[in-house]
Amino acid sequence: MKVALGSDHGGFELKEAIKKHLNRKGIEFADYGTFNNDSVDYPDYGRITAEAVMSGECDRGIVCCGTGIGISLAANKVKGIRCALVSEEYSARMAKSHNNANMIAMGGRVVGDGIATGIVDAWLEAEFEGGRHERRVEKIMEIEE
Ligand code: RB5
Repeated sequence: MKVALGSDHGGFELKEAIKKHLNRKGIEFADYGTFNNDSVDYPDYGRITAEAVMSGECDRGIVCCGTGIGISLAANKVKGIRCALVSEEYSARMAKSHNNANMIAMGGRVVGDGIATGIVDAWLEAEFEGGRHERRVEKIMEIEE
């Protein structure tokens, strides 16, 4: 399991906290930036992180901006990406088990580090249930065609 990480300046500190958490858990990741607090444009980082997931460089992706909204919108424009904006563990778990989300987004100005790392764990540990959810996810992906 290799996780792609990306953020703008608004999500930079949260991304750093997530990196520490993944390191502690021994989970491999690749950081696609940004690498400091300087102001940048979130679509650039949502896109490059999502493309790392779709290319197979990484298995899943986590993106952060101030609210998580802008960077999730950008990631979801990359074909094949299902990026769920989450701010609590239940939705993070459901994002995988029902929606098979291959990315999640969080807001660095919305969730604290403790909530965020709980979200990461819940999402990474959850499994897609398939069955009726498979059909629904397929219907989402058909919209891209
Ligand atoms: C940047 O100030 C902010 O707009 C961005 O991080 C994000 O919240 C956008 O959705």
